[in-house]
Amino acid sequence: MTGISKEVQERLIAAADKVRENAYAPYSGYRVGAAFLMADGSIEVGCNVENASYGLAICAERTAFVSAIAKGKKDFVAGAVIVSSDQVGAPCGACRQFMSEFNGSLPLILATDKGKVKVTNLGELLPMQFDRSYLP
Ligand code: THU
Repeated sequence: MTGISKEVQERLIAAADKVRENAYAPYSGYRVGAAFLMADGSIEVGCNVENASYGLAICAERTAFVSAIAKGKKDFVAGAVIVSSDQVGAPCGACRQFMSEFNGSLPLILATDKGKVKVTNLGELLPMQFDRSYLP
């Protein structure tokens, strides 16, 4: 359960699937799209962007977060991540930490372009989150 209506889930998956077309993934061939519902009702999107210097690749989730924040939006309500595969993806550790800065219990819909869906949340994907409360 995400607490997010089926209709919003479907909108998020559709937006993530559409932006996945813009993924720049010539090295891995693993094209990822991400879409996030914001508190103001808008949807912010991102895709993965790779580089010949492999380590510089940016995941779809972080691309979307950075784009939203640059627009002055940081209240993330729920998200969807879609991949073209037989199995749903899993946000990488760096993205889990990055997203947890803004919503540590963010509901997440992990989907494939073949209709598989797994509903989870950031609390489940990243327990014992490092946050500002640990800082002096
Ligand atoms: N990737 C994402 O964009 N999101 C994920 O959740 C997992 C991994 C990207 C990074 C890289 O461009 C490609 O997938 C292969 O690791």
